[in-house]
Amino acid sequence: MKNIVILVSGSGTNLQRIIDTIDSGEIQNAKVTLVVADRECYGLERAKKHHIENILIPRGKNFSSELGNVIPKDTDLIVLAGFLSILKPEFCENWTGKIINIHPALLPKFGGKGMWGMNVHNAVVEAGEKESGATVHFVTPGIDEGEAILQKSFEVTAEDTPETVAEKVHQIEYEIFPKAINKVLGN
Ligand code: GAR
Repeated sequence: MKNIVILVSGSGTNLQRIIDTIDSGEIQNAKVTLVVADRECYGLERAKKHHIENILIPRGKNFSSELGNVIPKDTDLIVLAGFLSILKPEFCENWTGKIINIHPALLPKFGGKGMWGMNVHNAVVEAGEKESGATVHFVTPGIDEGEAILQKSFEVTAEDTPETVAEKVHQIEYEIFPKAINKVLGN
């Protein structure tokens, strides 16, 4: 059984998807042992509803070191599922190859500092992009720069708004996140 720790900052629909796909067997041989939030958010409530151990570590300069203290040593994978703090380089290096993130665009496009949530979808529509999508990638000290694990795109049409792009990206995320987790776990 592989032990997964999930980090959240927001509504946690990707967290929910991971919980559900572990329950359904789509993600095999895995268990969520801990959910960590860096702020009050609905993701934390989802963990509580499912009786998953959970902790709030307020965001700020000590976040990464406190996180390092609470993560169980037998953790196989740390999953950033709508997580908005930047992890310190030392933390990333301690867990090389064992941290993954989902990003709401086709990296390397629309990544880096400030590129999160609706900022990304606004920028995609503003730039007149013909496609967008989602990327699951390894986390390294460079923001959104780690190797991609899975990526999937969709066509952005003239009718699309940042809101419709956001909705389409979420659907793609729900599809590729469980697959990427299986891949990294060697399933
Ligand atoms: C997701 O679209 C995820 O890709 C994005 O936040 C959303 C969280 O949704 N993450 C980032 O922007 C990280 N840079 P959720 O809380 O419903 O899973």
